[in-house]
Amino acid sequence: MGKILAISNQKGGVGKTTTSVNLASSLSYLGKRVLLVDVDHQANATMSMGINRANLKTTVADVFSDKANIKDVIQKVDSVNVDILPSRYELGNIESFLISHDNKDFILSNALEEVRDNYDFIIIDCPPSLGVVTINALMASDSVLIPVQCEFLALDGLTQLLNTIRLIQTKQKHNKRTLTIEGVLLTMLDTRSNIGYEVINEVKTYFKEKVFKTIIPRNVKCSNAPSHGLPVTEYSPRSKGSISYQNLAKEMVALSERG
Ligand SMILES: Nc1ncnc2c1ncn2[C@@H]1O[C@H](COP(=O)(O)OP(=O)(O)OP(=O)(O)O)[C@@H](O)[C@H]1O
Ligand SMILES: [Mg+2]
Repeated sequence: MGKILAISNQKGGVGKTTTSVNLASSLSYLGKRVLLVDVDHQANATMSMGINRANLKTTVADVFSDKANIKDVIQKVDSVNVDILPSRYELGNIESFLISHDNKDFILSNALEEVRDNYDFIIIDCPPSLGVVTINALMASDSVLIPVQCEFLALDGLTQLLNTIRLIQTKQKHNKRTLTIEGVLLTMLDTRSNIGYEVINEVKTYFKEKVFKTIIPRNVKCSNAPSHGLPVTEYSPRSKGSISYQNLAKEMVALSERG
C-alpha cells in the first residue's frame, strides 16, 4: 500500500512543484512505483512533466466533480517511469462546485484509495493556499513535506499550516489516517549569501530533527528544466539541483524504511 505524501506550504513560490516533480522522478530511479498528483489549477507539475494541457481529455478536476474515474485520468509520463494525475485551469472552479458537496473534504482520499495498491509513493503537489483542494490533499495523506525557501520571512505563515495540520489530524479518523510531518525541506539555498544560513538555523531551531539533512541549492538548471518538460534529474542529471533531489529521495526512503 503506497505512502501518500502532500507537498504543501500556502506560501507561493517556495519550491513545492519543483520538489514534487523531482522527488517523483528520483524515487522512480530507486525502483519505486510513483504516482504524481497535481491538484494545483496552475498545472505547473503537469507541464513540468511534459504533458500538453491542450490534449487532455480529462483531468483531476473531473475526479473532484465525479465526472471521471481516477483510473481513466491517470497517464504515464514520457521521460520517467512515473504516472501522473494531471491538472488544468478547470480545477480553479472546483471550490464553488464543492461547497454543497456532503463529503467534500474526502473526495481525493476516496479516489486515491482505488489506486493506492499500485504504487509505493503517491506525491501530491498542492496549490499555494489552504482552501478545499489543499484540505482534500492533506486529508488523503499520511504525511506532509513542507518546503521552506531559504529567504527572508521563510517561516512567515507556517503557523497557519501547522494549525491546519492539527485540524486535519482530528478529522482524519474517518479515513483511518494520521497525518504526520514527513519533514521540512530547505530549498533554493544561495550559498553566497548569509541570509540563507540564518534561515537554516532558524528552521532547525524550530523544527529540530524534522528538518531534512538534504538541502536544495539554488541552481539555474532547476528553473530551466520545466520549460523543456523534463524533471531536472533528466534535463541535467549531474547538476547540483538534480543530485540534491536524488539525495532527498534516498534520505526519505531510508526514513520510511526505518519507520
Ligand atoms: N532549487 C532551485 N533553484 C533555482 N530555481 C528554483 C529552484 N527551485 C525552484 N525554482 C524556481 O522557483 C520558482 C518557484 O518554484 P516552484 O514553482 O517549484 O514553487 P511552488 O511553491 O510550487 O510555487 P507555487 O506556490 O506558485 O505553486 C520556479 O520558477 C522554479 O523553477
Ligand atoms: Mg507549484
